[in-house]
Amino acid sequence: MLSGKRIILGVTGGIAAYKAAYLLRDFQKAGAEIRVTMTPSATRFIGSETFAALSRNEVAVEVFNDENPGKDWTKHIHWGEWADLFVIAPCTANTLSKIVHGNADNMLTSTLLAARCPVLICPTMDGEMYESPSVSRNLKLAEESGYYILEPDSGYLASGLDDKGRLPEPQAILEMAEKIIEENRKKGPLSGKKVVVSAGPTREFLDPVRFISNPSTGKMGIAMADAATALGGDVVLLKGPVNTKETERLHVESFTSADELFSLAKKHADADVIIMSAAVSDFKPAEKTDQKVKKQNAPDTIPLKRNPDILQWLGENRKNNQILIGFAMETENLEKNAREKLKKKKIDWICANSLSDEKSGFGSDFNTIHLIGHDHQETLSGEKKVVARQILRAIFGE
Ligand code: CTP
Repeated sequence: MLSGKRIILGVTGGIAAYKAAYLLRDFQKAGAEIRVTMTPSATRFIGSETFAALSRNEVAVEVFNDENPGKDWTKHIHWGEWADLFVIAPCTANTLSKIVHGNADNMLTSTLLAARCPVLICPTMDGEMYESPSVSRNLKLAEESGYYILEPDSGYLASGLDDKGRLPEPQAILEMAEKIIEENRKKGPLSGKKVVVSAGPTREFLDPVRFISNPSTGKMGIAMADAATALGGDVVLLKGPVNTKETERLHVESFTSADELFSLAKKHADADVIIMSAAVSDFKPAEKTDQKVKKQNAPDTIPLKRNPDILQWLGENRKNNQILIGFAMETENLEKNAREKLKKKKIDWICANSLSDEKSGFGSDFNTIHLIGHDHQETLSGEKKVVARQILRAIFGE
């Protein structure tokens, strides 16, 4: 259930901070992807390097980057958009108080305010502190604000006392995390909707060993499938020939050629939403031989014929209330060409990208998308995984 889920682990400055390293490992073993943010005082209990090494990601502690001012200063916003769940374990009385009063004086609390995902707070402190009127009041406020609280366990505490205040065992935190993510997913704008996403290139074979294709890696399409799942959709991923483990958690149907993708698209033409991110080859060899063509018999030219325009067919044969979303890779006149495709293919939205945009294009983990609807236009830029969610939120709402 946690496979492929993205979790921000917030670690605050209590003695149980060291236990967050074990929690991180357990989340990873369950298949989750983890990013860690720590309060400065948490780093006095356990080094940020430990979490950086374990999570294989940078650890966010400071909002400001003194060595490189201005760099990454919107990281808390992007992280907040990236995550499926924000878990604060352990959460001190001090951070709890900051959260419920909306303070954003460090990276953890700033990221928390920017988070679009549910938040699970694991209050962990000494028994007397936990029982204090202000902590009780703040816990009540946190619950009223929609945060999830996992009550601490009772037992031997660092103070030497036997009381309530221990960080619960990782298993209890994992179980609650799973429950919250699924509950939240079902409330998403795509809940109950069948969403079909195509991703990757097509291969158009000339003979059994040679084909025409393109450099698509399917990353953007897979990010769209993940985003649609996170927003509640029942997703079918139509996957071209790309090698990735990222799709193991998804319902996948595979294609190689444009003709095969066309058959799958027709089979799933009843979907509520169809997202055509696949880089479909517009042409295929006019003939395909069953045996390998020997080089002395190779022709000087390869006659081609057109592949069907799958998206256009979907636009012309759409069922009522179906939403069709296309992609367009342009090298010039991006907006004009994208708008023409929107009309010609009779679709609702087009996600146009340009090879000339910085940090975008085939194989990159980043993208800049010019999202164009019949009366809407905006530009979204950042990690493909984040941009995919922004696209779907812009189209379908929260
Ligand atoms: N597409 C499709 N079938 C094709 C070609 C493209 O369904 N035979 C879809 C793609 O999945 C994408 C959109 O159409 O969502 C735009 O594809 P693109 O190749 O950029 O546009 P074309 O219509 O092929 O126009 P051109 O090659 O002239 O840019």
